[in-house]
Amino acid sequence: MSDVAASAVIVTGAAQGIGRAVAERFAMGGAHVIAVDLRRPDATAEAITSRGGHCVAVQADVADRDQVRAMVATARERCGAIDVLVANAGIGFPDPILAISEENWDRVLAVNLKGAFLCVQATLPQMLDRRRGAIVLVSSIAGRRASLTNGAHYTCSKYGVIGLARHLANELAGTGVRINCVCPGPTETPLLAHVATPEQRAQMIQQTPLRRLADPGDVADVIVFLAGPGARHMHGAIVDVNGGLY
Ligand SMILES: NC(=O)c1ccc[n+]([C@@H]2O[C@H](COP(=O)([O-])OP(=O)(O)OC[C@H]3O[C@@H](n4cnc5c(N)ncnc54)[C@H](O)[C@@H]3O)[C@@H](O)[C@H]2O)c1
Repeated sequence: MSDVAASAVIVTGAAQGIGRAVAERFAMGGAHVIAVDLRRPDATAEAITSRGGHCVAVQADVADRDQVRAMVATARERCGAIDVLVANAGIGFPDPILAISEENWDRVLAVNLKGAFLCVQATLPQMLDRRRGAIVLVSSIAGRRASLTNGAHYTCSKYGVIGLARHLANELAGTGVRINCVCPGPTETPLLAHVATPEQRAQMIQQTPLRRLADPGDVADVIVFLAGPGARHMHGAIVDVNGGLY
């Protein structure tokens, strides 16, 4: 963890679920964490600082370019150069195709795909200047096949996130900045509770070879690894964290 301990890390969608677990793990390793969410993630920051860790809570909508730029400026002011970006914020709706409104389509794509793009674009220049940085994008099992619980808008956004990671792995060649992507399977978070019925949840457990759903920490551990020195030769990897559910 030595690299991580020296790091400043931006984690989006850090108020709950996977993002909160990622923020807490980085902080436990000694990193300075900038926890970002649509509603200020004060509970995450309090949980970290009460254990002696470093965390700044910032409110920002990742789908809004000005808010993302302001968030990164605050992060730099408070924590210096940013070493790691985890673009995790995401939303989903269990809409069947005929029920997807234009508004929901646009919002899901704006948060899940454009949000990742905006966060990368705002964070990258100082990583390029320092020839140092690690980016982890959060896609989904939905980006590998089709969503088990959310609608087509969600699936398309998560395919897009994988495309962004693969494209940038080529474009960032030789820059010193690494980018990788994780594809969680069903994970016990408020998002899943919102979109999956208890019957769907039981069915997903049965379909998963490891016979359990992930908890947020299962996914967070892989994200922290991908951002750290142990993954120094990983770039453009799309890593499944799904208990064997393909
Ligand atoms: N839970 C799962 O089963 C699962 C599976 C695969 C992928 N994922 C992905 O993992 C990521 C985290 O999901 P989760 O399950 O922890 O979700 P969650 O709903 O529990 O947490 C997501 C967080 O993102 C925040 N957020 C939403 N829109 C935002 C915006 N515009 N700007 C800033 N923050 C915003 C929310 O407020 C929330 O705190 C998402 O990208 C999701 O698509 C989740």
